[in-house]
Amino acid sequence: MSKTVAFHLQKGGVGKTTISGTLACQSALSGKKTLIIDCDPQGNVSSWFLENTPKFELSDVLQGRCFVDDAIVKVPCVDNLYILPTFGVGGTLKIYSETKLAEEPYVLLDLVGDVSQKYERIVLDLSPGLGRLERSALIASDEVISPMTSEVFSLDGLQIFIHELSKLRKNMRASVRHDKIIINSFDTRIRQHKDIYAAAMESGKYKVYQIPVDPIFRKAQEANKCPQLFKVRGRGMKTATLEAFSKLNKDVWKK
Ligand SMILES: Nc1ncnc2c1ncn2[C@@H]1O[C@H](COP(=O)(O)OP(=O)(O)OP(=O)(O)O)[C@@H](O)[C@H]1O
Ligand SMILES: [Mg+2]
Repeated sequence: MSKTVAFHLQKGGVGKTTISGTLACQSALSGKKTLIIDCDPQGNVSSWFLENTPKFELSDVLQGRCFVDDAIVKVPCVDNLYILPTFGVGGTLKIYSETKLAEEPYVLLDLVGDVSQKYERIVLDLSPGLGRLERSALIASDEVISPMTSEVFSLDGLQIFIHELSKLRKNMRASVRHDKIIINSFDTRIRQHKDIYAAAMESGKYKVYQIPVDPIFRKAQEANKCPQLFKVRGRGMKTATLEAFSKLNKDVWKK
């Protein structure tokens, strides 16, 4: 049985793409056949892992213009990693999500069902916001994990997300689990970061993870590489970052 995990908070720039892409790499490096589905019309995770624009994108599959297997591409920089891409420039996912998707909110759930025999682990990268596309992706997911940054607005964003998720569960019969939060770009030396961590822990309902600030992410993204394998002048990912992703990878895929 495969498992599908989305990383989402409606706030922009909190690290959804960085964390989903890096966790997918971690999963693939541990020998598991892993698929990233790029559900963001910006196509950031696709341009990160693919230097050249492939023939087909997710939106082509959703609109029946090609078979799903024809659109999935092997990620060159790491074994066992595959991507169903979205084109940031010239792509049609945004227009599809604003038009036809309204009539077929379960289309991503069906797609995940179709690929679940071939891929043990499926990671969805979502765009900021909570529109039709993000809701469809959440319906398709077994679990959603919320990345946030150490700011009070991120905590507000989390409360909004929890509220919206409860409506989605009720109205769309979504069964997505939500019991993990990731505080991204965490710095143990900063008091405010510790306060936000304590606030996130407060309810006791969430397991809270920390991911440090690490310049390797931006450098690996610029070079179309997997951050765990990438080095600049002999320096790779920080030990604390590697440990954080190793722990996350162990916990996330538990059924
Ligand atoms: N832990 C980190 N340390 C250093 N840089 C980071 C870290 N996490 C993310 N970044 C950088 O922050 C920027 C924003 O991250 P990212 O694109 O992953 O956010 P996002 O939530 O996916 O944004 P969007 O809402 O636009 O989809 C990127 O340049 C990324 O390299
Ligand atoms: Mg993103």
